[in-house]
Amino acid sequence: MKALRLLRAVRAAVSRRLSNGSTARLHLLGDNEDLDPRDYPAIQTLIQQTRELHLAAPDYVARHGLDPDVFLPRNIWQHLHAESGFAHWSYDLVNYSRAVSPFSGFHLLLWGRQDIPGDIDEQGAQELYADLFAGRIKGLDVAKRLDGMGIPAKIRASQRSLVRFYSARKNMARTYDHLVARIPYRFRLDVPKRGGEIGIVHKGRIINPDVLIYQGRVNALYGSGALDSLDRAISQRGYANYLEIGPGNCAFARALRQMFNARLNIYLVDLPFVIANGIAYLSCADGVDAIGLATPQYWPVSKAYTFVPNYLLPLYADDMPKFDLVHNALSFNEMSASQVVYYLAFVDEHLASDGALHLVGGEKYLEYHEDALALAKQRLRLRQSYKLKVREIPTLDSPHNFFGTTR
Ligand SMILES: C[S@@+](CC[C@H](N)C(=O)[O-])C[C@H]1O[C@@H](n2cnc3c(N)ncnc32)[C@H](O)[C@@H]1O
Repeated sequence: MKALRLLRAVRAAVSRRLSNGSTARLHLLGDNEDLDPRDYPAIQTLIQQTRELHLAAPDYVARHGLDPDVFLPRNIWQHLHAESGFAHWSYDLVNYSRAVSPFSGFHLLLWGRQDIPGDIDEQGAQELYADLFAGRIKGLDVAKRLDGMGIPAKIRASQRSLVRFYSARKNMARTYDHLVARIPYRFRLDVPKRGGEIGIVHKGRIINPDVLIYQGRVNALYGSGALDSLDRAISQRGYANYLEIGPGNCAFARALRQMFNARLNIYLVDLPFVIANGIAYLSCADGVDAIGLATPQYWPVSKAYTFVPNYLLPLYADDMPKFDLVHNALSFNEMSASQVVYYLAFVDEHLASDGALHLVGGEKYLEYHEDALALAKQRLRLRQSYKLKVREIPTLDSPHNFFGTTR
């Protein structure tokens, strides 16, 4: 009883400290460092190309005799066929792309986490997406609109309750400190104050649930030795190659590239519909010149980030290098079995002899990670499988499975 009272008193004290702004402050949409409007036309052109690639997919797949079960969106992504499904991207939406990119289970703090049943403000999210897809969100009030309509009642009251919400929820600052305690400084995520990122500013960095999850994934790579092996490749030939399948808004790939002083060449395979989110975010984070987009007519060379629409992978398979690291997080579990089989064969062909495939699961209700794992085991050699800790290094989502090629 006494212990419980003491615990409550300590909690209240911590919460007071966090909510008076002395140890935590917020970075909200209004603090975003916006793009130079002169950069927007080039971004708009690239995003327009992803729209065309999205709409052209069924026809391309049919004309080239590709298997629609592999190369068109399947499983929970199947509905993306609809023409109307493509967002009306604008200058403002690009600036706030994180707020409209529902990846990693975190709709920023506007709607709650999508991997916690019942946590999301479904109606708020649906209204926003409906307006986004219909082109009704325009003009410079995107941030205002998101701030106003999206924040659930439970945290809308004030800045103070926002800080408390953020601080108490999973004790983010403490979780972050625990995660990075044994991680070298260069391998600690530092997300830019751009692209619509929001969260608590802790020790000079923005942290939010996605940042923690991504830090956990970096930790897994660090603990397993995969980051050392990237360093070795870079010291031998000046660069290393990284492939991510299903990167979403690409914040993880971007963070990793930063950690290797831009010596990591990044290849990103996703549905063209979603590549638009990646282009928006990376344009804010690193500038549009860093981005190349493969189209049926064009293969970009010497770009920091090369996007390959999923159905163009057979066309460009020979242009893709051998990869020192392939990463897949919460994506195979959202694909059809034929898609997973295809990607695993692709990885088998393209993994460097000492490269690794890092497969990150996650506790989601749509999970069928075990099937993906069984398929992976048939094609690739499972080297290590970890639950929460990877060689004493803490992570957040699990399992973390590392595969090598059998060649
Ligand atoms: C849950 S999101 C995960 C995003 C990111 N890995 C993360 O953890 O934030 C699933 C991703 O898989 C992608 N995806 C779905 N079907 C795909 C396919 N057939 N080929 C490539 N990517 C696909 C989605 O577009 C999305 O980027």
